[in-house]
Amino acid sequence: MDKIKFFPDSLDIQNQKIILRLDLNVPLIDKIIQDDTRIVLCLPFIKKLVEKKAKIIIISHLGRPKGLKDPELSLIPVYKYLKKSLQTNVFFFMGNLDEDVQDKFSHLKEGEIILMENIRYFKEESSNDEKFSKTLGSLGDIYINDAFSCSHRKQASIHNITKFVKRSFAGPLLKKEINAINLVIQNKKEPVTCIIGGSKISTKINVITSLIKKVNNLVIVGAMANNFFVHKNLKIGKSLIEKNTEEIIKKIYKKAKEHKCEITIPEDCMVSSSFTGVGNSKSLDKIEDDEIILDIGPKTIKNIKDIISLSNTVLWNGPAGYFENENFMIGTNAIAEEISKNTIKKSLISILGGGDTLSAIKKCKSKLSFTHLSTAGGAFLEYIEGKDLPGLGVLK
Ligand code: 3PG
Ligand code: MG
Repeated sequence: MDKIKFFPDSLDIQNQKIILRLDLNVPLIDKIIQDDTRIVLCLPFIKKLVEKKAKIIIISHLGRPKGLKDPELSLIPVYKYLKKSLQTNVFFFMGNLDEDVQDKFSHLKEGEIILMENIRYFKEESSNDEKFSKTLGSLGDIYINDAFSCSHRKQASIHNITKFVKRSFAGPLLKKEINAINLVIQNKKEPVTCIIGGSKISTKINVITSLIKKVNNLVIVGAMANNFFVHKNLKIGKSLIEKNTEEIIKKIYKKAKEHKCEITIPEDCMVSSSFTGVGNSKSLDKIEDDEIILDIGPKTIKNIKDIISLSNTVLWNGPAGYFENENFMIGTNAIAEEISKNTIKKSLISILGGGDTLSAIKKCKSKLSFTHLSTAGGAFLEYIEGKDLPGLGVLK
């Protein structure tokens, strides 16, 4: 099997135009960055490229604007952050990406940086458009993908762009991520428990069917669990739900039976009539029409803690509740503490991933310890599933 080409430290890149694909998709509220982890992790490599006197063009997405220029999803706050953190000129490019775009970048000097506005403002990004990828590729001599967390997306700045740049590499952060995950995969000890939560149901629900073959326990929490409740004919009020998942959930249960994988879904929950409210503990058959399920309940917490303490490997992606409101962080906090405790005391192998999961962990008050923390959620799950991620395949 071909190996991923990693960016060689010794490569002379002075005066070379580097297109650097990063994941600067950080959570924002009113244009204020809520968690800078992803940016902080990217800084050392950016600084290295600056030192090496490359001309750096940074591409990232933020949220899912679906080809619309939604000002709420602008990268301007990230631009301001970079400007403050880096000792070089950082420019922001919010123009169109037409054929003569290179001219607009010609002012860039050695060691300087251009951050491009949210690449998903262009619908051609998500459709992996050929012409758009070619235009993007024309901006640089070398392409570096240091966004493992986006590498499961077959999108222009991750995938097709590599066709139009002379040389493409994976960056150091991506390298660190896959090395750490590979190590966990190689050394994993049974029982293996995978906890899946969060709100990006559509990304993850398909992954579950393949993960079943690789794990002994599958614990479903967060908004993902709502679909399982509906499958069991429970009412979920105003809670978040993904349409048309009935068939896939049936398949999940069937596969789980075949592969002797135990599926656990919450048995109680915390509800409120609004995201900003306080939680009420409820059993699942008592949800009113105007209520939203926002966290797992005490019985479920106890149950999940027991499963974790009996496991030797735990993979976790996606918070258990709406952690943005502290009242609904109890489940996520309890899971994090139990995993951490077991990682320290009985060398549980633990690997956690995802933007929201990282943000939630950062909000936990206690000091936590895990085998590996990944910036990636969907990409992390698909990688564990054994898929050849589109963004990695092109770097081989
Ligand atoms: C993430 O937050 O998981 C990555 O930035 C990828 O985002 P996406 O799921 O919108 O592609
Ligand atoms: Mg995410």
